[in-house]
Amino acid sequence: GAPITVDITPLEDGQRLVREWRGQPIWIVRRTEAVLELLPTLDDHLRDPLSKNPDQQPEYVLTDFPELRSIKRDVSVLVGLCTHLGCSPEMKAEIRPEPFDPNWKGGYFCPCHKSKFDMAGRVFDGVPAPTNLLVPPHFYADDNTIVIG
Ligand code: FES
Repeated sequence: GAPITVDITPLEDGQRLVREWRGQPIWIVRRTEAVLELLPTLDDHLRDPLSKNPDQQPEYVLTDFPELRSIKRDVSVLVGLCTHLGCSPEMKAEIRPEPFDPNWKGGYFCPCHKSKFDMAGRVFDGVPAPTNLLVPPHFYADDNTIVIG
C-alpha cells in the first residue's frame, strides 16, 4: 500500500482521527496533558514499559519520549488492532479505573478478551495480549502533516 498523508490540524486534545493504511485502522490521537503526565508512572503495571520488543514500533518513536512512544509528545500514532487476536479495542481515554481494573487508568480496552492498553498502546500485565500495540512507520512532512507508511 502507498503511504497516506493526514492533516492533524483539526485534532484537538483528547480526540482521535481514524484512517486506513494497508487495510488496517490507523489511530492518531492527541493526548491531554493529564494523560501525558500519567504515562511515565505506569511501568509497574506494564508488560513491556520501555517497548523493548523491536517488532512493535520503529526505533525513532522511542528516542525522545520512550514511555510515550511518539515523535511529538502529544500525538500518538497506532495501528488500532489488538495484538492478541486482532479485534479492535475501544478508546477509553478518560481516567476511569472501574469496572475494568483498579490499576488501569484508561487507554484502550479490547472487548474480545479484555486486554487493556494505556494511551501509549502499552499492554497491561495479566491480560492475553502479548505485546504493545503496533506503531506504524511515519514521519512529519510539516508541523501538522503526518505521512504514514
Ligand atoms: Fe483483544 Fe483477544 S483479541 S483480547
